Amino acid sequence: MPATLALDIYGTLIDPLAVKTALVAHVGDEAGAFAETWRSKQLEYSFRRGLMGAYRNFTQVTRAALDFACEAHGASIEDNARITLMNHYRTLDAFPDVAPALTALQQKGVALHAFSNGVADDITALLEHAGLDDRVSSIVSADEVQTFKPDPRFYAHFLQRTGATAATTWLVSSNPFDVIGAAACGWNTVWVKRDPNAVFDPWEYVPEAIISNLMELPSLLALS
Ligand code: 2OP
Repeated sequence: MPATLALDIYGTLIDPLAVKTALVAHVGDEAGAFAETWRSKQLEYSFRRGLMGAYRNFTQVTRAALDFACEAHGASIEDNARITLMNHYRTLDAFPDVAPALTALQQKGVALHAFSNGVADDITALLEHAGLDDRVSSIVSADEVQTFKPDPRFYAHFLQRTGATAATTWLVSSNPFDVIGAAACGWNTVWVKRDPNAVFDPWEYVPEAIISNLMELPSLLALS
């Protein structure tokens, strides 16, 4: 059976820390640190809301994380500017290896699906901005199950939606919590180590492969 790829979005195809370019006007030299706080709080809020069963969608989670980062960094960013920053989050750039890699995979007949905590409307905007919208067959959003990765219900939902099986599905993600979540559900996993200093969690789950560039995927999946 041909492989099905579940492509994580934030951090894997799209760089959430690139929002720092829009933050410079507000917080100057602290833009990089602010972007890190924003991203880590966004993830923490999604985990906590998943555990509590207190769902709010990823856009709402991201906005709350932005408000936290403003407070934590002592940045008095006005509401209109926060709305502009949230819109900027829908037009973040893709990493440069993404378009050629997805084209190569698509040409080899691999089923490619976006698989993200993000709401479908935001993921559509990101993929369109990056010129990638015609590379994926579908967008599978956590919003459809009202919970977040690494809740196993979301991984099960992906299989149900795409008709794929765990044995032939590969998660491609830069987020170790996502790789571990998929591995725990019996999927094959590839950790995209975008940051050379990133550390994988020392749990009982390990990825089948570690890559630093998505162009490694076709040979990894023995497609060439
Ligand atoms: C995603 O796109 C969590 O960033 C991750 O689902």
